[in-house]
Amino acid sequence: MTHSKKKVLVTGAARGIGLSIAKTLAAKQYELVLLTSNGVSADALRRELLVEETKATVFPLDLSDRDAIADFAAEWTEPLWGLVNNAGICKTFGIQDVGDDPFNDVLATNLEGPYRLTRGLLSRIERPGRIVNVASQLGREGRAGYSAYCASKFGLIGMTKCWAKELGASGITVNAVCPGWVGTEMSFKDVDRMAAEQGVSAERFYAEVCDPLELKRFNTPEEVANLVAFLLSEDASGITGRDWMMQTVWNQQ
Ligand SMILES: NC(=O)c1ccc[n+]([C@@H]2O[C@H](COP(=O)([O-])OP(=O)(O)OC[C@H]3O[C@@H](n4cnc5c(N)ncnc54)[C@H](OP(=O)(O)O)[C@@H]3O)[C@@H](O)[C@H]2O)c1
Repeated sequence: MTHSKKKVLVTGAARGIGLSIAKTLAAKQYELVLLTSNGVSADALRRELLVEETKATVFPLDLSDRDAIADFAAEWTEPLWGLVNNAGICKTFGIQDVGDDPFNDVLATNLEGPYRLTRGLLSRIERPGRIVNVASQLGREGRAGYSAYCASKFGLIGMTKCWAKELGASGITVNAVCPGWVGTEMSFKDVDRMAAEQGVSAERFYAEVCDPLELKRFNTPEEVANLVAFLLSEDASGITGRDWMMQTVWNQQ
């Protein structure tokens, strides 16, 4: 008897944590549906060995565009074992800053996007099935300058807990992962900016940030991917509505 592979859709799969999730899931024999934000990153992802080897399908979908999400979801007909809402952006802006604020952009991409995509695809998610949302430790703690990002990630954790209650009886589990600093483009941009603001080198700032952390270093994208893979697995059938931290909260003010 042949078993078809379980299919998992991952957003933000072109780089960083999302690409690591895709690679980790491919090694575990999942069939992959990979989303990026636009045609250019979709084409770049299609050239990755991972996609060539696994025959993953790649689609561009801007998660801040609710009409595009509705069209994508309406056209999607295949069953999905899992949905990983990983894509996200981080734009800082203090409450006292002057100028155009990024609030709507960040909320649209990080919060409304996952809400609309999940709602649109829900009828295609298998029972049992899995939803994993990539939130952040900044979904549990505040940080100066991060009000839009924190609002989006606190919101994503809130939605995780609501969906777990709504979907538990049907066999769909819903969990959030809440990494702290992870070594990707997103975090190294922040390290460079914060180091410059404090007038210290990026190396010194990195060392200061890592000092209170148990592991004395950032997590790797692969470590986050391993947690996501566990929460997607059959072994995690009894875990839902939780927000999973990886290390101590580091906080800047
Ligand atoms: N890095 C960290 O320290 C850290 C810590 C905690 C949580 N996180 C969370 O982990 C997730 C992944 O972060 P990362 O560090 O891997 O970030 P990253 O390297 O900047 O990658 C972000 C991904 O999100 C996609 N994306 C951005 N805007 C989008 C949009 N409008 N529509 C669809 N996709 C969009 C990007 O697609 P394109 O490639 O097409 O641009 C990219 O693949 C995010 O939700 C982030 O908030 C990161």
